[in-house]
Amino acid sequence: MRLEGKRALVTGAGRAGRGIGRSIALALANEGARVAVSDIVPENAEGVAKEVAETTGRPTLAISANVADAASVEAMFGKLVDAWGGLDILVNNAGITRDDLLLRMSEEAWDAVLDVNLKGAFLCTRAAARLMLRQRSGRIVNIASVMGIVGNKGQANYSASKGGLIALTKTTAKELGSRNITANAVAPGFIETVMTDALPEELRAEMKKMVPLERLGSPDDVARVVCFLCTEDAAYVTGQVIQVDGGLFM
Ligand code: NAI
Repeated sequence: MRLEGKRALVTGAGRAGRGIGRSIALALANEGARVAVSDIVPENAEGVAKEVAETTGRPTLAISANVADAASVEAMFGKLVDAWGGLDILVNNAGITRDDLLLRMSEEAWDAVLDVNLKGAFLCTRAAARLMLRQRSGRIVNIASVMGIVGNKGQANYSASKGGLIALTKTTAKELGSRNITANAVAPGFIETVMTDALPEELRAEMKKMVPLERLGSPDDVARVVCFLCTEDAAYVTGQVIQVDGGLFM
C-alpha cells in the first residue's frame, strides 16, 4: 500500500476492458489511492469507477469531462475539491488519434488531436498545480508515446502532440520542482489495446518481431510504471521520459 491516503485523478480512464487509463486507475487503487475516474463519456467513467471500487474496495469518483475544454476542466477540478479537498496525483492519459499522411491531413484532424493530447494535459496540469502548490507536494504523470520521440508516418498530429507533451513534462518539472512536485512522462510502445486488436494478425506478428522482448505490451505493463512514479520510491525522479516499449527504441 504505497499510496495509502493519496487522491488521484486519471483522465480518459473510461475505456472498459483494455484501456490503459483503466489499468492505471486499478493499479493506483490497488496501492491504496482514492481514484477519480474521468472520461468524456459519462457512463464509461461511471463503469470503470464502479469496477475499480468493487475490485479494490477503495472509494472512487466518476467525473465526466472534456479535457480539451477549459470550462469542463475547471468544473471537473471543482467537483474533485468539493469531494476530496485536493489532489495528490494527476495522470494525463486522455488521448486520441486521427491518422493521415501529412499532405492529406486536415486542419481539423490536426487541431482535434493537439487539443485533446496537448492542450488537455496543459489545462489539467495548470488546475492540478494550483492545488499541489498549496500542499507543497504532488505527482504528475503524462502518458506520451514513443511516437513522440521518434515520429511516425501518418501520425504528424499525434507524434507532434506527444513530443509537445514531453516538453510540457520537462517544463512542469522545472517550474514546480521547488515545491516538491514531480512531473514525468511514460512513453508506451506497442500496447495490446482496442487499437492494436483491430490490426491484421500478420501486422501484429511483424510488430512483435521488431520488439526485443518479442511481445506487445499490456496496459498493466504501462500502469505499473505509472504507479511507481507516483510512489515515494520515485521521490527523486522528475522531468524523465520512461519508455515502456519492450526495448523497441533505444
Ligand atoms: P483509448 O482510446 O482506449 O482510451 C482513451 C480514452 O480517452 C477513451 O475512454 C476516450 O473516451 C477518452 N477521451 C477521448 N477524448 C477525450 C477528451 N477530450 N476528454 C476526456 N477523455 C477523452 O486509449 P488507450 O489506447 O488506452 O490510450 C491511452 C493513452 O495511452 C493515450 O494517451 C494514448 O495516446 C497513449 N498510448 C497508447 C498506446 C497504445 O498502443 N494503445 C501506445 C502509446 C501511447
